[in-house]
Amino acid sequence: MAICATLGAMAQTPVYLDESKPLDVRVEDALSRMTLREKINLIHAQSKFSSPGVPRLGIPELWCTDGPMGVRPEVLWDEWEQAKWTNDSCTAFPSLTALAATWNPEMAYLYGKSIGEEARFRNKSVLLGPGINIYRTPLNGRNFEYMGEDPYLSGRMAVQYVNGVQSNGVAVCVKHFALNNNEINRHTSNPIVDDRTLYEIYLPAFKAAATEGGAWSFMGGYNLFRGEHASYNPILMNDILKGEWGWDGAVISDWGAVHDTRTAVTGGLDMEFGSWTNGLTNGASNAYDNYFFAEPYLKGIQDGTYSTKELDDKARRVLRLTMRTAMDRNRPFGSMGSDEHISACREIAEEGIVLLKNDKQTLPIDLTKTKRIAVVGENAIKMMTVGGGSSSLKARYEITPLDGLRARVGDSAEIVYARGYVGDVTGEYNGVVTGQDLTDNRTPSELTEEAVNAAKNADIVLFFGGLNKSPHQDAEDFDRETMNLPYGQNELISTLAKANPNIVVINISGTGVAMPWVKQVPAIVQGWYLGNETGNSLASVLVGDANPSGKLPYTYYASLDQCGAHKLGEYPGHKSIDVLGNEVYDIPYNEGIYVGYRFIDKNNLRPTFPFGHGLSYTTFKYGKATIDKKEGTADETFRVTVPVTNTGKREGKEIVQLYIADKESNLERPRKELKGFRKVALKPGETAEVTFEITRDALSYFDPEKHAWICEPGDFEAIVGASSTDLRSRVSFRVKP
Ligand code: BGC
Repeated sequence: MAICATLGAMAQTPVYLDESKPLDVRVEDALSRMTLREKINLIHAQSKFSSPGVPRLGIPELWCTDGPMGVRPEVLWDEWEQAKWTNDSCTAFPSLTALAATWNPEMAYLYGKSIGEEARFRNKSVLLGPGINIYRTPLNGRNFEYMGEDPYLSGRMAVQYVNGVQSNGVAVCVKHFALNNNEINRHTSNPIVDDRTLYEIYLPAFKAAATEGGAWSFMGGYNLFRGEHASYNPILMNDILKGEWGWDGAVISDWGAVHDTRTAVTGGLDMEFGSWTNGLTNGASNAYDNYFFAEPYLKGIQDGTYSTKELDDKARRVLRLTMRTAMDRNRPFGSMGSDEHISACREIAEEGIVLLKNDKQTLPIDLTKTKRIAVVGENAIKMMTVGGGSSSLKARYEITPLDGLRARVGDSAEIVYARGYVGDVTGEYNGVVTGQDLTDNRTPSELTEEAVNAAKNADIVLFFGGLNKSPHQDAEDFDRETMNLPYGQNELISTLAKANPNIVVINISGTGVAMPWVKQVPAIVQGWYLGNETGNSLASVLVGDANPSGKLPYTYYASLDQCGAHKLGEYPGHKSIDVLGNEVYDIPYNEGIYVGYRFIDKNNLRPTFPFGHGLSYTTFKYGKATIDKKEGTADETFRVTVPVTNTGKREGKEIVQLYIADKESNLERPRKELKGFRKVALKPGETAEVTFEITRDALSYFDPEKHAWICEPGDFEAIVGASSTDLRSRVSFRVKP
């Protein structure tokens, strides 16, 4: 009997390992078993990308990985250098701007689910993404990792990305919270932002990811806010994220974003990563012992400087994160490099490509009539999955635009390639190499001459240019210095357009560029960075296998002057000395809530291409919008319906946008704001009745005095449009007191 009783007790699963028990009961049980040192160890890194868990209790390590466009190749324990694994080549998904350009939350879910499966297969529990900082300036070097200028669009897409990733038992780490809107001086930037702007523009996407998406972790930015670093900013982390939003996840520092123990302890940071990671400095045995959240924190608790209250809260949050991921025995096993992932890449890429201009039906290329195609430009042959900073990938393969076109066009037409310009011939990041040799020692005039000859003798010219992932282009840690295209591309495009007016410019970039030649070319395509399937996806749109259906997630300014941050605000700020005597860059966001199309509207400007713009090979007619009631209280739902008909000859998808205009308000409001969108697939002749539900959230503004969202009674207008300037139908309604 006695033996049986002992065996029975031995077989009993400890509460923290019993998945039938509520999560927080398990967390408390685990916490109650941990020593002070174990709690300290739990909350800081043990290697470049992992934390140790609690080995004694069988609580596993937590492994993180970049993020956000593919799973980063394995690096050494303590260094950024490659571990030289041969099984870590990933599926490279399109850049997040391309995903945002699909305006299709289903694509965001598919993206998240697929990349999450790859992370899971590689045994990573935290995927460092998505990035959802607002596009404040076209010069930000990391715009390509984010989802554009509009808080509502970014929020809708982020929620589904989060759901997709986390369906694998892999946490997202939503970054970079918050106001990390430029790369220049990224560790010392101190945005000066009023509460209304913060709540209306820079927070909503994060709020959606935290509350609706239920993101399990967040990453704090490098920048400061109101004098404190974002990663442990008490306003952002304690008051807003964990307080107002009631979020129960874990805050992870950006890599090397922690500078001080005391403020990090109280400022709402839960885990410290990346402070010293070469394993050599600041520690004879284990550099990680010197982390701000390691020995210094432990000593501070032992000598009474800190109580254990904050530590317990941090440990709880990390335990919760671990139980939701690495300790979830029921999570799927994931998969990598599958055919499904490749087709997801392709589908997202094809839905994200934006047809910006298409005069005289230049596109799609009619292969029955086209005999010779001149392809010009470095970006037709340059691999782009390597480079750009922490999002750099080791892709399983990458189809360049030229290869994709050749494969698709086959013998139907002759393709002649001319380089046109030499830009960045490198192809290496952190030891990952593309293996391409792009060296070309010809002079610019020799290159131009060759390109002009090719253009003259062709039926159509496809110019693949734009930016790349090298410093001061689309790359982390640098901003661009100008909106202009580099390497003399503007002149080259104009010259080519004269040699052959039947020219298409395919701009590869993750941010807006100036297009002084916009009127000289009949067709322009925004091609983004599209990952593995770049060339195939572009070819498919160019020849018309896929009908383009992406729309811009940000405004294409004609010049920096049209962007509020440059016209009214400061960028990149001015030097100042903070209270601790440190040099910082104050960046007054004087443009306030007037970001992107909000600024364009207010000032009646004409951008090169507006927010929400994108063409199709078919045409859509919008009928008259109707509303289910002309009057109601703010607690009622207003329903606006608009019929949209495909009036062209081929199947296509249209993104129908709903903007709300507040006609009378105590505080000045933007002329209109995006509050709904739907992407509908329509066969020729088919009509869809698109219905939007308008609730209090869509009508409210943030009142800084009251520190609350206010829906003021009065007149509103629901405006249905094909873009932020192509407005098709309006209906008025009144919110009763
Ligand atoms: C970047 C993060 C990234 C981290 C880890 C940082 O430099 O800002 O976005 O996740 O490094 O690579």
